[in-house]
Amino acid sequence: MTRFIHHGDDKRRFIRRMFAEIAPRYDLLNRLLTLGMDRHWRKRLAKAVRLESGERILDLACGTGDVARTIARQQPESIIVGADPVPEMLAWTSTRSLRLRTVCCESEALPFQDNSFRTITVAFGVRNFSYLDRSLQEINRILAPDGCLGILEFALPTKGRLRRFYHWYLTSLLPRLGALLSRGYAYHYLAESIRHFPGPEDFINLLASSGFSHVVTERFLGGTVWLYRGQKVSA
Ligand SMILES: C[S@@+](CC[C@H](N)C(=O)[O-])C[C@H]1O[C@@H](n2cnc3c(N)ncnc32)[C@H](O)[C@@H]1O
Repeated sequence: MTRFIHHGDDKRRFIRRMFAEIAPRYDLLNRLLTLGMDRHWRKRLAKAVRLESGERILDLACGTGDVARTIARQQPESIIVGADPVPEMLAWTSTRSLRLRTVCCESEALPFQDNSFRTITVAFGVRNFSYLDRSLQEINRILAPDGCLGILEFALPTKGRLRRFYHWYLTSLLPRLGALLSRGYAYHYLAESIRHFPGPEDFINLLASSGFSHVVTERFLGGTVWLYRGQKVSA
């Protein structure tokens, strides 16, 4: 049984409201609930996309700008654009880095020209997209030929005991911890959206059918977090 909507305009409205509400506590909760491991995963993402000095990079679903700042530290010469549809999340990004330009937009209608970025990153964003297929096609459109897409996303582990523990953590412990500091329903949504999102094998197939090749993966914490790197197929 599902409590939340996982596609379309109703999802979009829900997502905007939820992230607007949790924005002030988002970074703090990330650190606490992942015991600081989220920093390591974001660094791995920035490394995996093999950035070149001075290039233009898009961090889509940038939220409060954690990945963008990680990239900015690694590539001081680069121009980084952070895009997100929730102004309350973007507000935290803009106050923290002068070198980062932010754009308020949705992944399914990106206000950028074809082939305009060599690298695009999305950390814990794709699961929240209201139109996943269309968004991947948009990402592909604005990525330069042979450009690189790096994605971080949660998944359910496949192994029995770990899967049961993680399920308990997501559905029982996490919403209670989340409710102490922020909005509990956001963490119920997190659990349900992870269960609802395509598993790694299906997501790799979806990337391939959206025009990405050479997809490689790396997984962390027993397969609860996955890093995907793909290359835009040249015409
Ligand atoms: C879990 S947060 C991740 C933020 C950041 N990337 C990070 O690693 O902390 C998910 C972000 O996705 C954004 N988002 C949701 N739907 C989106 C969409 N359709 N297009 C772009 N961003 C979206 C939300 O506003 C939110 O900031």
